Amino acid sequence: MKQFNIQTLGCQMNERDSETISGMLTEMGYQSTESKKDADIAIINTCSVRENADKRFFGMLGQLKRYKNENPDFIACVCGCMMQQQHIVDEVKKKYPWVDIIFGTHNIHNFPTLLKNVIEQKTAQIEILEDYDTVVEGLPSKRLYEHKAFVNITFGCNNFCTYCIVPFTRGREKSRKADDVVKEITRLVKDGVKEVTLLGQNVNSYRDGEITFAALLKMINEIDGLKRIKFMTSHPKDLSDDVIEAYRVCDKLCSYIHLPVQSGSDAVLKKMNRKYTREHYMSIIEKIKAVREDIAISTDIIVGFPGETEEDFEDTLKVVEDACYDSAFTFIYSVRKGTPAEKYADQISEDVKHERFNRLVELVNDCSYKNNEKYLGKTLEVLVEGYSKNDKEYLMGRSGQNKLVNFKGDASLIGELVKVKIIDFNTFALQGEI
Ligand code: 5AD
Ligand code: SF4
Repeated sequence: MKQFNIQTLGCQMNERDSETISGMLTEMGYQSTESKKDADIAIINTCSVRENADKRFFGMLGQLKRYKNENPDFIACVCGCMMQQQHIVDEVKKKYPWVDIIFGTHNIHNFPTLLKNVIEQKTAQIEILEDYDTVVEGLPSKRLYEHKAFVNITFGCNNFCTYCIVPFTRGREKSRKADDVVKEITRLVKDGVKEVTLLGQNVNSYRDGEITFAALLKMINEIDGLKRIKFMTSHPKDLSDDVIEAYRVCDKLCSYIHLPVQSGSDAVLKKMNRKYTREHYMSIIEKIKAVREDIAISTDIIVGFPGETEEDFEDTLKVVEDACYDSAFTFIYSVRKGTPAEKYADQISEDVKHERFNRLVELVNDCSYKNNEKYLGKTLEVLVEGYSKNDKEYLMGRSGQNKLVNFKGDASLIGELVKVKIIDFNTFALQGEI
């Protein structure tokens, strides 16, 4: 049987796209392999959100050359966000002319045709579309996880935050039909899935006719056999009261929200084109906490955005303290070609960015630790995902608050929802007993 290897960089959107690529290859009779050496086809699904993702890609691509030299029939494919940028495609064509297939984010469904063409015609295939105005339904998927699943609800982004490449690589916002989403989740539940995470760059802008994101949540909440609903990502400017109300009425909606703040300074938020103030952001947090006392909140923060002063940065530290995040994904600002912020003259020096980043991480870790301490002695419901990474005597899973929980137990519990009493904790995980 012919084998394929797929390497995925970046966010859950890319992971979900890789599941589709794997699904199509499986239907074509290929088998997935972890080993690049044994693969007949290798695919790298790229991310462009920060410069280090670009660098990792070029490193990974360089490695594939060896397999191509050893086996002339080896097929090298690259896809994903980086391929939506002409300057990157030009670089791949020039420096890595042995790459067989290049495709973008809008035509994944066409991959089997491109592959067939390479095999039959032995010529490189490049197909990149600027955008695609319909959502292609019914593609196969080979899922990464057995008991939880990612489900796309929107694609693309219209927000154009000034630092961000995503609106250029993922195109304009499109929503799937509510009916298609519900059908997909119903099918997943029949397959043993207990938890779904609804995916979109800005799930709050979901719209199918009269059906808003809050209405979609209520529809999904009615699906028999489904136990948990999570979603990401929410944009604070669009998180409306009816979504907060959904936290009150939807019992399957987990007590967890990922709400990227990016900065705590109104001046920086304005320059980032985020369209909310720190006060508005904090008011949303208060409202959600009033509806769900046990809500866990995570966020994304960028340090060193052009023009960020020490005072601006201290405003960010203040928001972290006030919101007391359960976790935060912290990023050093990275210039992205073609974004408005690329042209800003007041770029911050690398030294200052790193110094601020270290102070931020320290505070974020303190908050995570304090939040985790609150769970000592409490009992959480955990969806068991598998064995713990470090110790096979332990199982690991996630609570509704998205907390990583390790505890002793046997394999028969994998895929079950179990009650775990928390007996110990650290900054990043909880430890418990069944
Ligand atoms: N530099 C640093 N971080 C960025 N992000 C997006 N673009 C950039 C950039 N140019 C971060 C944001 C976003 C997350 C997915 O990545 O915080 O929410
Ligand atoms: Fe990027 Fe902003 Fe869109 Fe998020 S909302 S994908 S940060 S442009």
